[in-house]
Amino acid sequence: MGDESTARISEAGFDLDHTDKLLTTTRAVRKRLDFDREVSDQVILDCIDLAEQAPTGGNDASRRWLVVRNQEIKDKLGDLYRETGQFFLNARGRLDGTGHAKEQVVSSSSYLVENMAKAPALVICAIWGIHDNSGRPGLFDSAVPSAWSFNLALRSRGLGSAYTTMLNGRAEELEEILGIPPGVTTLVTFPVAYTVGTEFKPAPRRPATEITYFDQWGFTRSQGSADGSAKVADGQGVVVEVDTDARPDTVWPIIADIAMPAQFSEEFQGAEWSTDGEPAVGSTFVGHNKIGDFEWEVTCHVTEWEPLNTFEWRVTDPDNPGAVWRFDLAEQGAGSRLRFSMLIGQENNGTVPQALKDPAKEEKVLNRRRQTLKDNMQATVDGVKALADG
Ligand SMILES: Cc1cc2nc3c(=O)[nH]c(=O)nc-3n(C[C@H](O)[C@H](O)[C@H](O)COP(=O)(O)O)c2cc1C
Repeated sequence: MGDESTARISEAGFDLDHTDKLLTTTRAVRKRLDFDREVSDQVILDCIDLAEQAPTGGNDASRRWLVVRNQEIKDKLGDLYRETGQFFLNARGRLDGTGHAKEQVVSSSSYLVENMAKAPALVICAIWGIHDNSGRPGLFDSAVPSAWSFNLALRSRGLGSAYTTMLNGRAEELEEILGIPPGVTTLVTFPVAYTVGTEFKPAPRRPATEITYFDQWGFTRSQGSADGSAKVADGQGVVVEVDTDARPDTVWPIIADIAMPAQFSEEFQGAEWSTDGEPAVGSTFVGHNKIGDFEWEVTCHVTEWEPLNTFEWRVTDPDNPGAVWRFDLAEQGAGSRLRFSMLIGQENNGTVPQALKDPAKEEKVLNRRRQTLKDNMQATVDGVKALADG
């Protein structure tokens, strides 16, 4: 973060070092909650005042906050939280010391399951109304923005919390313990305390360019466009995703078979390895493609090969590829999520010369090509899912 002489002050007068730090370092704090330091009611009320500035559907004033300070009541909530969170304790037993991707969050969540009642305050964000699953924005949805603002306000004042929802499924007991009337929905229970130390790091998250689509679901840009239109120079891509019931070890052999897409897509007509042995970075294969009567062949260079995880290849020239193609596979719940993505290169392909011929048609050419690619890619991942789950 910059010092005064280099402070980044936005047009709106905000110190961006401060706002960005608040937004990137407000973590789920559990093991670093300081249970021994008192918290005043006033700091909680201040944070609720700030949180109440959040949007609310229809400008309706239906949010309510319940601050639990009494130890006997906190103990009852703590017992209930422990009951609901028993699966975290079981999972911790299995994951501790394994280096599993979820080991840390399970260990941290388990700690909270065992210690919830020790927090100086348990703050519950609630709202008048019952969610009717109608899909219409309801009162329910108005509580979530304010709940997060509350967490941000805590962080700015040296306090911390974890946004917990496990008690929401125990509405009857909550009504009983806290005297909540029928017709109220509770959304979040925050264990509130000062944090042990105040430095927290941004979490690893996917970059915006990977999860943001422009104009059509799945159309990506490697960088933002200055005027908002799709341009070759900004790196135009396509992403399709599918969730399978099958685990990565079942899905991987299917995507590692380079001939597989030919079964499902019109454009991808088959492929064969042109190098011997197990595929690895540096291996090459030849892909056959067809659109209508037009057929063509491309040499593909493997640039990432991580079994069960990633398979990336670059078309024609690895240093200046006509396209970059990639499968990413990861565990998702009890199954897997498969992401199939591609990026149109700056040259060495048929699309770019067409797109650049007439600047007025650049976006149209790019999007038309991407729609064809997307259809073929979607057919491919749907086919993978059918094989894997079949
Ligand atoms: C809707 C929602 C529900 C959550 N429920 C719980 C919960 O019941 N218990 C808990 O310990 N953490 C809960 N969390 C916190 C997440 O586990 C936490 O955000 C995640 O581990 C990532 O940590 P980070 O926010 O510090 O990056 C919840 C978060 C959200 C957004």
